[in-house]
Amino acid sequence: MRLRLAGVVLLAAAAYYIYLPLPSGVCEPWKLMLLDAVFRPTLLAVRLGLCHRIHLLNRLVCLVEDVDARSSATLQPKGGKKLKRAVLYYHGGGWALGSMRMTSYDYICRTLAEELDAVVMSVDYRLVPEAVFPDQYEDAMAAARAFLSEEVCQRYGIDPERTCVSGDSAGGNLAAAVSQGLALDDAQKVKFKIQALIYPVLQTLDFHTSSYQQNQAVPILHRHIMIRFWLQYLGGDSSLEPVLLANNHSALDEPAVTAAMRSRVSWTALLPPTGRGRRFEPLVQKTGTPGVVGRLPALTDVRAAPLLAESEVLSRTPKAYVMTCEFDVLRDDGLMYARRLRDAGIDVTNEHLVDGFHGCMVYSQLPMLSGVGQRSLASYARWLDQNL
Ligand SMILES: *[C@@H]1O[C@H](CO)[C@@H](O)[C@H](O)[C@H]1NC(C)=O
Repeated sequence: MRLRLAGVVLLAAAAYYIYLPLPSGVCEPWKLMLLDAVFRPTLLAVRLGLCHRIHLLNRLVCLVEDVDARSSATLQPKGGKKLKRAVLYYHGGGWALGSMRMTSYDYICRTLAEELDAVVMSVDYRLVPEAVFPDQYEDAMAAARAFLSEEVCQRYGIDPERTCVSGDSAGGNLAAAVSQGLALDDAQKVKFKIQALIYPVLQTLDFHTSSYQQNQAVPILHRHIMIRFWLQYLGGDSSLEPVLLANNHSALDEPAVTAAMRSRVSWTALLPPTGRGRRFEPLVQKTGTPGVVGRLPALTDVRAAPLLAESEVLSRTPKAYVMTCEFDVLRDDGLMYARRLRDAGIDVTNEHLVDGFHGCMVYSQLPMLSGVGQRSLASYARWLDQNL
């Protein structure tokens, strides 16, 4: 009797721990709740600022993910002397977590290699806390230059005219920044043909876009976690978290944030006033916390925040695929970038997943298999096949 009672109490506690009110329309809410329950301790630790423990956290993520021990980063299709198409991939994880050796990323890259009969190179760039901006960006650039070099193309039989730079989340940020960096480098003769950005993180100025407001508490990427990831990447103090959360760093009395920069992240101007996500009011502070950008100039550095780039720069970047998810704080980052690329004359495909959540493509295989995750990977692979 007492045992049965204990069982009921335990069950109730587990249900209480796992249950989370989620917006209607999100794909398979119970799976998302379970995922959140698995990752909540990690996210809580990040929130508590245990960033010096981030190796531990990363080990936890990798444990859940069953990292495989292969060290080779290059996936090569078998057979044939014909030159291959090729994809350079940067994994996500807030510039702090994850690894190309995670089984989920390995699965994504293997799927691309097989379905496209392409060479896929996955990059293990340095992570927070050992590395902060611009280290991750510079690692990503170095990998891109090596990938496009004559030596590497010859060694792996890559067709230098048919290459793609790609990544998800923070990896999408790196892929966008690398596309811009190479576009501006006249000495770089071989360039990427296309860029494919999967729910990328792209801007630092507004943490009250409609998607940040709508999805601030939707797993697995809560708004305060994204802000914490930004501060750690840019080398900012965690005491700035409430300042950024209040949009005080980009208040109108901050001279380091120019009107031109504001216009590049203005979701009310760049996005159509329709859809469920657009019911929110913008938050623009008249007076904020003085000098934040002065103390942390990386906040307005285009290599960290590619959405802040001038249109002229965007116009020189490759043809683009931008995946966005409805239930993602970063949705509007991606939608604004797609719009600005298009305005700059770039051919853009925006795949918007109406039931998608941040990170869903990582869950495109068992045991975490998510329906929208599978669809996202299929859509991504299809676009690459048709455009690379
Ligand atoms: C934001 O700035 C205003 C005006 O300077 C200030 O009163 C408020 O305390 C600031 N909020 C935060 C969270 O720093």
